[in-house]
Amino acid sequence: MSKFNGATVKSIGQLQVRDIGSQAALVQSSRDTVQITALAPDLFRLRIARARSFSERPSWAVSKTEWPAHVTKITQSGGEIVLATEKGRLSLNLKNGQWKLCDLHGNVAFDSLAGATGFQVTKAGVTLKLTADESIFGLGETTGTYNKRGLIRELWNIDVLGHAKAIYPGLRSLYVSIPFVISLRQGSAAGLFWDNPARQLWDIGQTNQDNWQMTAASGEIDLYLFLGPEVGDVVARYTELTGRMPMPPMWALGYQQCRYSYETARRTEEVAKTFRDKKIPCDVIYLDIHHMDGYRVFTFGKTYPKPGQLMSRLAKKGFKVVTIVDPGVKDDPDFNVLKRGLKENAFVKDPQGRKDYVGRVWPGRSRFPDFLRRNVREWWGREQNKLLELGVAGFWNDMNEPANFALPTKTLPEKCPHHTDVGLMPHSDAHNLYGMQMARASREGALAHQPNERPFVISRAGYAGVQRYAMVWTGDNSSVWDHLNDAIQMFLNLSISGLAFCGGDIGGFLDNTTPELLLRWFQMATFTPFYRNHTNIKTIDQEPWAFGPKVEAICRRYIELRYQLLPYLYGLFSEAHRNGTPIMRPLFWHYQDDPVATAAGDQFMLGDSLMVAPIVRQGAVARSVYLPRGEWFDFWTGQKHAGARHVLADAPIEKIPLYVRGGAIIPMAAVQQFVDQKPLTTINLHIWPGANGALNWYEDDGVTMNYTSGDYLERQITSSLEKNSGRIHLSVPTGRRASKVKIWRVILRGVSKHLRAKTNNRPVATHFDQLTNICSLELPNTNSGMEITLK
Ligand code: GLC
Repeated sequence: MSKFNGATVKSIGQLQVRDIGSQAALVQSSRDTVQITALAPDLFRLRIARARSFSERPSWAVSKTEWPAHVTKITQSGGEIVLATEKGRLSLNLKNGQWKLCDLHGNVAFDSLAGATGFQVTKAGVTLKLTADESIFGLGETTGTYNKRGLIRELWNIDVLGHAKAIYPGLRSLYVSIPFVISLRQGSAAGLFWDNPARQLWDIGQTNQDNWQMTAASGEIDLYLFLGPEVGDVVARYTELTGRMPMPPMWALGYQQCRYSYETARRTEEVAKTFRDKKIPCDVIYLDIHHMDGYRVFTFGKTYPKPGQLMSRLAKKGFKVVTIVDPGVKDDPDFNVLKRGLKENAFVKDPQGRKDYVGRVWPGRSRFPDFLRRNVREWWGREQNKLLELGVAGFWNDMNEPANFALPTKTLPEKCPHHTDVGLMPHSDAHNLYGMQMARASREGALAHQPNERPFVISRAGYAGVQRYAMVWTGDNSSVWDHLNDAIQMFLNLSISGLAFCGGDIGGFLDNTTPELLLRWFQMATFTPFYRNHTNIKTIDQEPWAFGPKVEAICRRYIELRYQLLPYLYGLFSEAHRNGTPIMRPLFWHYQDDPVATAAGDQFMLGDSLMVAPIVRQGAVARSVYLPRGEWFDFWTGQKHAGARHVLADAPIEKIPLYVRGGAIIPMAAVQQFVDQKPLTTINLHIWPGANGALNWYEDDGVTMNYTSGDYLERQITSSLEKNSGRIHLSVPTGRRASKVKIWRVILRGVSKHLRAKTNNRPVATHFDQLTNICSLELPNTNSGMEITLK
């Protein structure tokens, strides 16, 4: 028996083997059913139900259920059953239910505590042993330390106003619940995902520093165990299991401006015009709740009289409009959306199950669509069409935990029944799925209406797998320095939890920002996947120009840099789409065997080439930066540094410490005022010295779904550049698409002399600038392989 937060878990025990298959074994005790499966050589599943059989309901998180056969040896001896693959082994003790996952060399990835895997009435629990050096990362969106070891966190989606740990240190839950973590032991990574959307409580070594205790309020123990040993292997498998993000429209990588609220159409147009007048690039303007008629979803109120005309005027200026869409439907008998919803019987019922539950959100008394049911999602999609027809380009799904002002629990009563696609579920089981299913309604609805246009959906709430439907932002942060630092760590942990496309409100949402905080926030966010400035009602303005010309000029410079980096960023988005590889990465993604890099939660990588070390302290004009092994170059000055040590980076207010990995290839383009203002026909290929640079060049049309049927182009670019010689190779492009690139401008950084170049053995002119140590050349793009030699 194991005691945890007052709950006693009765262990599974005295198991009998019932069935052994090629990849799985089924065992049973008088009360429990256990199945261990090797889904892939490095992915195991341990499933336990307090019943004679398992639930037949499909998972909401898992999108891959069929796995190819592979060699698995299943043996039973000495009271143990063992599943062995070419990568490792999962063993289960038949006497006490203790289980253990090891790699082939016997290194333990996870080891359960004896007698601590089981059930108490309906509550399920698992306790694992933590080793002295073990770190725990991931867990989706949580506050608190970067390394989650030592925290207690509750996985229960909740609307929290202001979650900076300095303001709210005891906060256990946030908007998104992802019961997935990566454990790092001695530089070896393994992953654990408990697929159970019920309320989970994880005590990761807080109550007992050697134990990691987890409970779920109901449902099965359903653990997916990933062997690694590379962090990248774990995330690749996790995102294979739960799905990867679709390609967003390219404009979603651009700068986005929001506030609660631009209350009139006039103000929105004025803001848009200011961007263009001031030549500050911007792609998206958001309409927060004041655009609606009395907060009635899918409507426009008096202050937005002709929304269609507004959208088309903004579109002519190159702006996309994203509107907020909250789930609560105003309980107004004359409201047509409500009337149609009632016809669909769309709303969640009250705990007695006889009438709709009525809660309270922005519109006042409101009903909540039961997004876990298909006809409701389809109806919602049809309602959403009205916005698409008016020219709205994307949907901002907010308050979808769901938030409810009517109760102290801030959400629906736990006993409200949901009539879902897979049968009846109490709200307590459906709660964490609600936001994700709303996002699904939004994405699938948009696709049903315009099947060949990439939807853009941003969601506040989610559960594992939400990345298939939406990106997430981290909700109501605060304009405080601590939150700038917290944001980095939240994004990194989200990024390795399947949510590669994530970000937060630049400048901070709650309270008034300051010019310095806004600038430092802009500098950091320039290198994060989502790039949106947003603030609360009644706070001071924080558009890039709000604090006068000096702040404006620095903001402009960073927004411009963001647009220059678009080709690099877009390539990273395509990697995230195809492999689940994060866009923004913790240092341990590339240096997991380096404990200093692993702990460096105030630095991050953008792709494998750029390392960002944001300034997160008021008044700071320098900071210590850890450079992992290898060679590094200061992005701004070109200065070379040897790695595996700390350096003191200079950071006056206009500068964020930014480093380039030796051997990096970073494609950049000219500044545009918005994505696709002009075709990117000239690509600047910045190449830094260091052996074996590699870049996967990717192009598609940036807006349609044609990429899903092969309409894209790829090309491998490799380099090995030393100080005074080098070689660059562009492979023959593959894929159906013709490249838009007309000119490759090769920009060799950190070289000390004028290099002569030959392309496919023909001499080409080069230009050398002694002051900057840059040697450059221009090549017309061709569809054949291109080999550039430099001497
Ligand atoms: C919530 C959102 C915030 C939004 C506000 C009003 O607090 O998190 O971003 O501005 O609601 O809609």
